[in-house]
Amino acid sequence: PDDVILAPSLLAADFSRLGEQARGVEADADWLHVDVMDYHFVPNLTIGLPVVRSLRPATSLPLDCHLMIADPRRWAVDYAEAGARNVSFHVEACDDPVALAKDLRAAGALAGLAIDRDTPVEPYLPLLENFDTLLIMTIKAGFGGQEFLPHLLDKVRTARRHASSGHLSLRIEVDGGIADDTIAAAAEAGADAFVAGTAVFGADDPAEAVRRLRRHARD
Ligand code: DX5
Ligand code: ZN
Repeated sequence: PDDVILAPSLLAADFSRLGEQARGVEADADWLHVDVMDYHFVPNLTIGLPVVRSLRPATSLPLDCHLMIADPRRWAVDYAEAGARNVSFHVEACDDPVALAKDLRAAGALAGLAIDRDTPVEPYLPLLENFDTLLIMTIKAGFGGQEFLPHLLDKVRTARRHASSGHLSLRIEVDGGIADDTIAAAAEAGADAFVAGTAVFGADDPAEAVRRLRRHARD
């Protein structure tokens, strides 16, 4: 696909200079992926609303907030109001995903549904018409730097088939282990948005790493 979205993940950046790191990829990336973790939904803690509020004016990149938190209905709209372009929350943590999608859209954000490693996609296909993005984890959510799990691309294929046949304009985003040697397979499966942490901010030249990923995604 031509209009792919590359979303470097700040999880792999230097947390003492997030603004600077964001600006370093501004000319080449499309979105900036922000992983919000709460020690409850996942056994890790990262950043929350105050940091998102500070990041918003610090970069021109749209913020792509990935909420790995319990009880997203309590918090997700706050991220939209803090200026996130897309807010993805986990289906495993939410008992009424469609209601929350509507709230996010009403708050001016794109609505994203996220699906963790062990969750099948089939039960949620009928919900997708209410969402702008579907984030399919290609690792288990919680930590960067894990190995890409290629069998999870079956979920991408299933979701892409469903979206195409229903004429849904759905972005399918993959997250976890996306790198030079895995991104083409994800694109081939039907993903058109790609999160990459280690592959971008772990590289000597993050901007060049984004350009290289984009070339591989189009191969
Ligand atoms: C992990 C996060 C990812 C993480 C990916 O739960 O959702 O966004 O930053 O990191 P890499 O690209 O290193 O696998
Ligand atoms: Zn993420």
